[in-house]
Amino acid sequence: MRLQAAVAELAEPVSRWGELKLLGGTANPELSHRISEEIGIPLTDPRVRRFPDGEIDVKIQDSMRGHDVFLIQPTCPPVNENLVELLILLDALRRASAGRITAVIPYYGYARKERKTQPREPISAKLVANFITQAGANRVLLLDLHTEAIEGFFDVPTDHLTAHKILAAHLRERGLGRCCVVSPDAGGAKRAENMARLLAAPLVFVYKRRPQDDTVEILEVAGQVEGLDCVVVEDLISTGGTIVEVARALRAHGARRVLIACTHAVLTAGAVERLRAAPVDEIVVTDSIPIPTEKRGFPITVLSVAPLLAEAIVRVHENRSVSELFR
Ligand code: R5P
Repeated sequence: MRLQAAVAELAEPVSRWGELKLLGGTANPELSHRISEEIGIPLTDPRVRRFPDGEIDVKIQDSMRGHDVFLIQPTCPPVNENLVELLILLDALRRASAGRITAVIPYYGYARKERKTQPREPISAKLVANFITQAGANRVLLLDLHTEAIEGFFDVPTDHLTAHKILAAHLRERGLGRCCVVSPDAGGAKRAENMARLLAAPLVFVYKRRPQDDTVEILEVAGQVEGLDCVVVEDLISTGGTIVEVARALRAHGARRVLIACTHAVLTAGAVERLRAAPVDEIVVTDSIPIPTEKRGFPITVLSVAPLLAEAIVRVHENRSVSELFR
């Protein structure tokens, strides 16, 4: 009888990697919970704690042996804390004999240091990718990277998702008049092109210069914006300096409305105040990074990427196409 039951079980189609297991670090617990609700499986408690000297310790509260584990941890501020916690969790999962480990990193910190612009500089985005794979990630799931080249920094399979469809659907629902899509800098051209395709709108380019880390200068607006609803596409908003200056420049060129579509709301100190005083009509962001209540409200609208990440996780687990999500 027992043997029959075992044979029947073997006949069931099971994932080559075992059961799907979900864990969230402490960087964005709300997003982890939403993803777990979407998929309909509970989160395993990684029991993260800090020693009195600040060192991180974890003790995963369930067996991971042979399972297909997805660990959700954006490396948002405090970047170094969240990154080291991610690495320690990966190490614990690897040592716990997980069958396959996918690091789900909805926001990838250090992404803006992906190349040398001056001699004797690091390429921190590559260093971080090395850390993540060395620590034990067998796969990585990423969302709207600052630049697509970062995918190539990983020597393991990656899936690079985008929240653009979610942002575009929201903007369409709000009602767009005659509109254009704006890239706030040369590096964002590909991103803006993608959004322009989704909104079937023409592209406009803004040329910006950053004399210092927290100052932005607009050199030129290339394209027609007069009387149009301008959708500015960003990967992230940090100090808010870029958005403030781009919005001012677009208004000065006669834009009817300025709307911002941005995936990652880093929002460092003072950013929200700066954005509230800027000539923008709406800033649509996602919950890839936790946004405290005091930072929410006009002009910021927060949309969840949990359904997108949940769908991608299930597809990776079932070995189904992830790119189909974007068609
Ligand atoms: C730059 O390359 C990025 O795409 C963003 O435009 C920039 O990092 C935003 O930073 P901030 O909000 O500090 O201007």
